[in-house]
Amino acid sequence: MTPVVLIAEELAPAAIDVLAHDFDVRHVDGTDRATLLAALADADAIIVRSATQVDAEVVAAAPRLKVIARAGVGLDNVDVPAATARGVMVVNAPTSNIVSAAEQAIALLLAVARHTASASASLKNGEWKRKQYTGVEVQGKTVGVVGLGRIGVLFAQRMAAFGTRLIAFDPYIQPARAAQLGVRLVGLDELLRESDFISVHLPRTPETMGLIGEKELATVKPGVRIVNAARGGLVDERALAEALAEGRVAGAGIDVFVAEPTTDSPLFGFDNVVVTPHLGASTAEAQDKAGLSVARSVKLALQGEFVPDA
Ligand code: MLT
Repeated sequence: MTPVVLIAEELAPAAIDVLAHDFDVRHVDGTDRATLLAALADADAIIVRSATQVDAEVVAAAPRLKVIARAGVGLDNVDVPAATARGVMVVNAPTSNIVSAAEQAIALLLAVARHTASASASLKNGEWKRKQYTGVEVQGKTVGVVGLGRIGVLFAQRMAAFGTRLIAFDPYIQPARAAQLGVRLVGLDELLRESDFISVHLPRTPETMGLIGEKELATVKPGVRIVNAARGGLVDERALAEALAEGRVAGAGIDVFVAEPTTDSPLFGFDNVVVTPHLGASTAEAQDKAGLSVARSVKLALQGEFVPDA
């Protein structure tokens, strides 16, 4: 019987081509739980992005499952222990979209600094308003990077070209590496106190959830602008909305939400907040890289071959 590969979210066509010759490739909407569980009955592999929750129930619903592939960086929507307990391999594409994610954070930061989204909406609405949309330059400003992993480093390197002063909080990076990047390592308290812009670049774990919440937002430099293109919930949405309402935070660029997909957030009511529906990895280049990488891993796994690290 031809092995079944279930694709639960949008995947680059080139990736599907890699699989179509050898496998029975089927598509399902991973956010439609009942359909997903039914489709798993004879699946040998499942490929997801960030919207499909691959939890213990999903693993249990797929008695033939051999591999779970996440076409992206994080694995926070995959219950890896549940998969491992069943002997199901989990693969991802850890570097596929790091440039796209860093560029998205920068796009949001600049859009927040210059009111790009609201000015665009206003002009398209028939208004020619210039005074209301006076922004700020980023040159000379202090940019606080929370998390200097692969994406945080790419973000910092690019922000350096804007003539910013870079500080970062990351308990795991070697000070010499930070110095090499021209970044001064500080504690989270100092970063919150000093930054004109803060951008978060951390995975979603029990430790990082709500890292920037009510208490932290009470200590920020007044007028700070905050960007989260990493994971929903790292910056608490309700606490951020309160800080925006009080004027302590001057703006925010948010690509990710605590529950996704969503069309409802306390942040949507603010003119000075730019929001996007988790588009950090949504570029042609990143999707090709992520899709091809996991498609190759799935093919090797289902053919019983060694799967090298992506
Ligand atoms: C990732 O973790 O790489 C992205 O969030 C994937 C996605 O865009 O779904």
